[in-house]
Amino acid sequence: MEVRINPSILNSDFSQLGVELDKISNADWAHVDVMDNHFVPNLTMGVPVVESICRVSPIPIDTHLMIADPDRWAPSYVEAGAQSVTFHAEAAQAPLRLARELRAMGARAGLAVKPATSIEPYLDILDEFDMILLMTVEPGFGGQAFIESMMAKVARTREAVNKTGLDVWIQVDGGISSATIEKAAQAGADTFVAGSAVYRSPDTHAEIEKLRSLASKHIHSA
Ligand code: DX5
Ligand code: ZN
Repeated sequence: MEVRINPSILNSDFSQLGVELDKISNADWAHVDVMDNHFVPNLTMGVPVVESICRVSPIPIDTHLMIADPDRWAPSYVEAGAQSVTFHAEAAQAPLRLARELRAMGARAGLAVKPATSIEPYLDILDEFDMILLMTVEPGFGGQAFIESMMAKVARTREAVNKTGLDVWIQVDGGISSATIEKAAQAGADTFVAGSAVYRSPDTHAEIEKLRSLASKHIHSA
């Protein structure tokens, strides 16, 4: 298992995304939150902006689609250049068919669940996904407080992934900072999204390294 730090650009300055992406060049992936004002009560960007981001980013792009009807729209993000596309279980009509389509197009396929959505229905089909995203806030906004009660879900998912013997990444997203990342790593997450913790720091590169070293302390004991 390997630690990945994926800063979310949601709280960065959208008027200068190229500069903001350079601030996280030592991270593993850039986490890009796509919101459509239907699935969540916030609106960010769509395919054309993601395409521009993919062109200038120094690191690969991890898209988190908080959108209705991902069955129809998610493949466009692979065409835009995203190497990983995660859609929500609550929004997908046919999650298996969609994951297979994304993989056939050459992307990693991720499945996300909101805090009140159970992961159990998906634990028998983990081999269909490259990543499971367990939200640790209600999706929609950066800067919210980490929901610690989600750690039981992270631990159950880790147990199920380990049983498969597959390297399905377990991502946590929402409220991840130097104060919370160790709890998530201990529970079994290996891929960490941090938005405000990184972009509010005066030294984004140092903050990423700090998060990485805190998570690494626990990753083998999970
Ligand atoms: C929330 C987004 C997150 C958000 C995280 O809906 O999915 O990726 O940017 O921001 P922080 O780290 O500030 O909670
Ligand atoms: Zn996100």
